[in-house]
Amino acid sequence: MGEMRIDVFFTSDDRKKSLMRDVEHGLTSRPKTLLPKYFYDAVGSELFEQITELPEYYLTRTESQLLSSVARTTISRVCPEEVIELGSGSSTKAKVVLEPAYATGRLSSYIPFDVSESALTMAAEELTQEYPSLNIHGIVGDFETDLDKIPPPNGRRLLLLLGSTIGNLNADSRHKFLTAMRAILGPEDALLLGVDLVKSVDMLHAAYNDKLGITAAFNRNILAVLNRELGANFNPDEFQHYAFYNPSSARVEMHLIPYVKQIVAIESLCLSIEIQPNESIWTESSYKFTRESTVTMLETAGFSLKDWSTDSDEQVGLVLATPQQR
Ligand code: AVJ
Repeated sequence: MGEMRIDVFFTSDDRKKSLMRDVEHGLTSRPKTLLPKYFYDAVGSELFEQITELPEYYLTRTESQLLSSVARTTISRVCPEEVIELGSGSSTKAKVVLEPAYATGRLSSYIPFDVSESALTMAAEELTQEYPSLNIHGIVGDFETDLDKIPPPNGRRLLLLLGSTIGNLNADSRHKFLTAMRAILGPEDALLLGVDLVKSVDMLHAAYNDKLGITAAFNRNILAVLNRELGANFNPDEFQHYAFYNPSSARVEMHLIPYVKQIVAIESLCLSIEIQPNESIWTESSYKFTRESTVTMLETAGFSLKDWSTDSDEQVGLVLATPQQR
């Protein structure tokens, strides 16, 4: 029988503290910004699930098909004894990799890492049923700061960072994060990274401006998070969803723009802010990559490319990378 345990390094108190710090900093900066990690309360997570099922939102669907088609080969190349997944959520994607890894008989542990304790607990309980001899060691943490909380290796590791999660980070944060990932991998270990690729502006525009307005609701929901968690009095309906592809920065930007001037009080921060119709709150960047920009990003952080795969329409990429041999 496998063991199951969950270690919490990021409590609701820690979350509240980072939220307060990040919101205070973001809303008093120019441009005003909020961090996309705060979209995902229960409502936001449900809205994101709905986004992944939209016809316009190719990313999740395409990556999951691509992952199924490369999973077996990846597992035979790496032959992992441990699979670590960063931003594991419900572990839906991990299953595609765990299945063939478990079948080798060599896999001993799955280490899902996520900020949400409830998502981790649910995923861990389901996976214990499915893979009875697998050890499941969940870690509740912020992957940008808590990678050192992952226990020392018990064998060859495969680290997963899927769903273009890396695309939410700017170049500096990506470099820091990849360098920290490199540091928890040994010479025989590997990283499987999912990136969203540069594509036609029309497709990108449609994916972030769906007809049903789910992405708009997802964007506005971050204001509801601030209302509930920080006692703010935003009226989310008074903000327009504005999402566009910025080609010179290779990113989709999402903003919230008020129709008329807003004066908002944020009780927990003892802060009042004004937002004019000629400014925005920048809520998300979603960087898009090419094979070249992916390789450069990986190499600067100490990785070498081992394998590059895309779907036939080159919408998304999956990269297998290993630590550079020194
Ligand atoms: C979670 C980074 C994959 O950038 O596409 C979906 C989130 N934002 N629609 C993305 C998102 C708006 C998403 N990622």
